[in-house]
Amino acid sequence: VEGVTEMRLKVNGTVRTMQAEPRVTLLDALRERLDLTGTKKGCDHGQCGACTVLVDGKRVNSCLTLAVMVQNKEITTVEGLAKGEELHPLQQAFIDHDGFQCGYCTPGQLMSGVACLKEGHAKTDDSVREWMSGNLCRCGAYPNIVAAIRQVEQSGFKG
Ligand code: FES
Ligand code: FES
Repeated sequence: VEGVTEMRLKVNGTVRTMQAEPRVTLLDALRERLDLTGTKKGCDHGQCGACTVLVDGKRVNSCLTLAVMVQNKEITTVEGLAKGEELHPLQQAFIDHDGFQCGYCTPGQLMSGVACLKEGHAKTDDSVREWMSGNLCRCGAYPNIVAAIRQVEQSGFKG
């Protein structure tokens, strides 16, 4: 089909190939082509953070990123956080602190939180609030999300 190109995306350590138009976003590629539906679509306009994933360790809004542009990079989604049966410490902390209600924003919060810890922006509650401000939560779980990230920071986990 004209306009369709083969793309190779390395997601959670596995190289996946797919046919897609160059205008396909990373978010749609993950959800609709690769069946990785953990990454959520909220606004599709870069305003809610529900679609946050890591590209080479840095958080990006996958709704604003073209899949074709990240072909040779390491992409990590929420499906890649746990190691087998073992939850990522931040996933466990979200459970410990009730860091979610409906759960729709949670994958994005987790990915942003992992980056926030790695960036060294989780040293105080205020810093976490500031550096997590791109991730909206309609349910208002913010205090519990901050508490979860701070617990992991205080445990000495560096990511
Ligand atoms: Fe990407 Fe809202 S869906 S920022
Ligand atoms: Fe419902 Fe955040 S837990 S939107």
